[in-house]
Amino acid sequence: MNIVDEIQRLKQDRNAVILVHNYQLPEVQDIADFVGDSLGLSIQAAGTDARVIVFCGVHFMAETAKILSPDKTVLLPDIESGCPMADMITARDMKELKKRHKGATFLCYVNTSAEVKAECDLCCTSANAESMVRDLAKKGEKVVFVPDQHLAGYAAEKTGCDIIAYNGFCPTHARIKPEDVLKQKALHPNAVVLAHPECPSMVRALADKVVSTEIMCMYAHDMKSDEFIVSTEVGIIHRLKKENPGKRFYPASEEAVCPNMKRNTLEKVFVSLTEMSHQITLSRDTMHRARKCIRRMLEYRA
Ligand code: 13P
Ligand code: SF4
Repeated sequence: MNIVDEIQRLKQDRNAVILVHNYQLPEVQDIADFVGDSLGLSIQAAGTDARVIVFCGVHFMAETAKILSPDKTVLLPDIESGCPMADMITARDMKELKKRHKGATFLCYVNTSAEVKAECDLCCTSANAESMVRDLAKKGEKVVFVPDQHLAGYAAEKTGCDIIAYNGFCPTHARIKPEDVLKQKALHPNAVVLAHPECPSMVRALADKVVSTEIMCMYAHDMKSDEFIVSTEVGIIHRLKKENPGKRFYPASEEAVCPNMKRNTLEKVFVSLTEMSHQITLSRDTMHRARKCIRRMLEYRA
């Protein structure tokens, strides 16, 4: 039996579901029950009937799955697959911020630890940050957004809301430079440019659409154009090509690789299901406090 068949057999035995982020390795995407963005994966994790969730993504995503399905076993095949952006803010930093901005609403990106979420009022993904900020602005609330300064900047631009932003950023999206996009545009003048809101503002400004990874897949499918320049992590190109065989996709920069997203290999998925490792555990109190801010996130389906 090859490793893919072994994984399928173990999956049945364990009553497991395999959830995979759009940036994962191609061969890992190919064994998934569901491939998607942070919002879609959270919705799947909250609704699955399986007993075990194998989460091929990064640590905060597996934590979010555990918070939404606390009675299930959530496995992260490589426990070292963290998110450097999420690590840029701690619960202690949050407590300091809350002292400095009394009365504000604290909105965190899903790319945060459970402990940081537990200190926040609301949580969003790149798919629904804009609509959440718009609703908060309508209510006249002062918004503090953590940790991504670029997603905060994007939401502020789109809504006109005066957001107080933390200074975190994604090191992978920071590798995409405006000159990379301009070079691709010169090579492919008819291509539509799609960018993730984690990109710096000068890269976002060169895009036709600034959207989450799932909405990128939707645009690639629905738009008439058959050429796209993609300003995000290169792993998504696999799914885009697979779902749109007649279209062409050009990464804005081959340097936009998130090493953490590449840590979950097929071999580690196999070991994970064999040994039931690595299990995500969180204190009941942290889960309870973090769940309150995550629940609202699921109500805003972009
Ligand atoms: P989405 O897939 O939710 O757009 O987010 C990308 C990301 O930051 C994954 O780390
Ligand atoms: Fe974190 Fe950026 Fe990697 Fe996403 S792509 S997991 S935000 S470092």
